[in-house]
Amino acid sequence: MTSRDGDERSNDWDPDSYDAEVGFVADYGESVVDLLDPRPGERVLDLGCGTGHLTADIAEAVGPEGLAVGVDQSDEMVAEARETYPECHFAAVDAREFDPETLPSAPERFDAVFSNAALHWIPWADQRTVAERVADALAPGGRFVAELGGRGNVATIVDAVVDELESRGYEAANPWYFPTVGEHATVLERAGFEVRMARLFDRPTVLDGPDGLRNWLDVFADSLFASLSADEEDAVVTAVEDRLRQDLYDPDAEAWTAGYRRLRFLAVRD
Ligand SMILES: C[S@@+](CC[C@H](N)C(=O)[O-])C[C@H]1O[C@@H](n2cnc3c(N)ncnc32)[C@H](O)[C@@H]1O
Repeated sequence: MTSRDGDERSNDWDPDSYDAEVGFVADYGESVVDLLDPRPGERVLDLGCGTGHLTADIAEAVGPEGLAVGVDQSDEMVAEARETYPECHFAAVDAREFDPETLPSAPERFDAVFSNAALHWIPWADQRTVAERVADALAPGGRFVAELGGRGNVATIVDAVVDELESRGYEAANPWYFPTVGEHATVLERAGFEVRMARLFDRPTVLDGPDGLRNWLDVFADSLFASLSADEEDAVVTAVEDRLRQDLYDPDAEAWTAGYRRLRFLAVRD
């Protein structure tokens, strides 16, 4: 059960717990900014910018002659990004509806579109639409550089949660679809991109503290627990911790390790 069918399964984004509990997402994203290699004077769009840390890094790299615009569908994340980085440009926009002409601070076309850890939050059935929107927003030769969860991402955790929910009689559905390189490259090519680089790689990710897994589920797994009361959710999370402790928890380091697998690509608009 995945969101490949295009079901809308939303997550509530709380900027404070996002930055406090999973700040590693933007930290890891810095190497995706390195791949983007933003240059002075460039106009760059950050799709699904969250709390704006990477947009600010890009803004610094493109300098006063350039422009970095962060867009995100969450009003809360955009409000936090604006408060933290008042000098940057942010807008609450759904990537599936992105149109540079509707943004006061946006140019007609961008030199590059960037995205970190956001695309897999958009249903798989809508990825073609997103890729076409990005292609429309780019100048010819413009680049699309992004990282998202790839095939097998956090599978051990998702499987344990789904199994636990089903064993208790709840309906459970994986909220994400994590594509292979071939699947995602095909979407990009159909939208008019030449895929210059795409790779899937393991990135074991430490979730600090005895509550690391619990905190991670709290930030990211809303939709898995949507029909449960707070007490029921707590019982399921405790049972999931018990299932996974032996394999994923290191008591000496007091840390969990999540089996992240990332799909990173650089594509150029034809
Ligand atoms: C895990 S966060 C990543 C945020 C940021 N890029 C970072 O690296 O910290 C995922 C973000 O994608 C955003 N998002 C999800 N679906 C979206 C959509 N359809 N359009 C725009 N943003 C979306 C969420 O609101 C959230 O802020």
